[in-house]
Amino acid sequence: MKRNLIKSKSEIELMRESCRIVAEVLKLLEISIKPGVTTKELDIIAEDYIRSQNAEPAFKGYGADKKNLYPATLCTSVEDEVVHGIPCDRKLIEGEIISIDVGVKKNNYYGDGAKSFAVGKINDEKKRLLEITEQSLYKGIEKALNGNRVFDISSAVQKHVEEAGFSVVRDLVGHGIGRSLHEEPQIPNFGQAGTGESLKSGMTLAIEPMVNYGAYKVRFNSDGWTVKTLDGKPSAHFEHTVYITDSEPEILTK
Ligand code: MF3
Ligand code: CO
Repeated sequence: MKRNLIKSKSEIELMRESCRIVAEVLKLLEISIKPGVTTKELDIIAEDYIRSQNAEPAFKGYGADKKNLYPATLCTSVEDEVVHGIPCDRKLIEGEIISIDVGVKKNNYYGDGAKSFAVGKINDEKKRLLEITEQSLYKGIEKALNGNRVFDISSAVQKHVEEAGFSVVRDLVGHGIGRSLHEEPQIPNFGQAGTGESLKSGMTLAIEPMVNYGAYKVRFNSDGWTVKTLDGKPSAHFEHTVYITDSEPEILTK
């Protein structure tokens, strides 16, 4: 276990602040998501709000490929897009689902959160996909306890999702978070309980189930970012930044 994964009380206060902004952005967007709105418009709302809080969008300019850094504040992933959809001029359509992921950096500490929303009225199948995915996030969070292992979180997520007949994406994972957007450990959404690195109070984790209505397989788009389901069926994504304490986990992006 690397000692620097444990945050001090004062670091947690800084993370609280970044995570508060993440939660407020998602709340603000919820009232703007309706048929006819473009994902670019949502992106502008989010960026303006983040900057009004003396913070920065964490995803903008992120990436391993210097020639194709992430260009926006939000990831806006519609329907069969799993994650990392790039905001654009396409208008949302009644009946679609959209996953919005937002990262905030303030005072050198990061917050990360995501939520899937309905655009207007959606069918019962999509409603159930959103419900099960959100529930699976909370099942995972319940296992974010001092002394537990990483895959206790993973297996709790997987079990809830698969019992409902949906599938967890394998190719993308949650992560530690703090002074970097992505820190150790990785938090897969599948695996065997009782295994993996030990969780310790003071760790901060971004837990983020990505759940497919159909099969778990995904493909990576030629834009270098957008991830889609291989079978073209819809996908949902919920994420919280969570602080492991000596007692109950605390959701910082609440
Ligand atoms: N929540 C996602 C993650 O933690 C969002 C990353 S988007 C990126 O990986 F653009 F920053 F890559
Ligand atoms: Co994340």
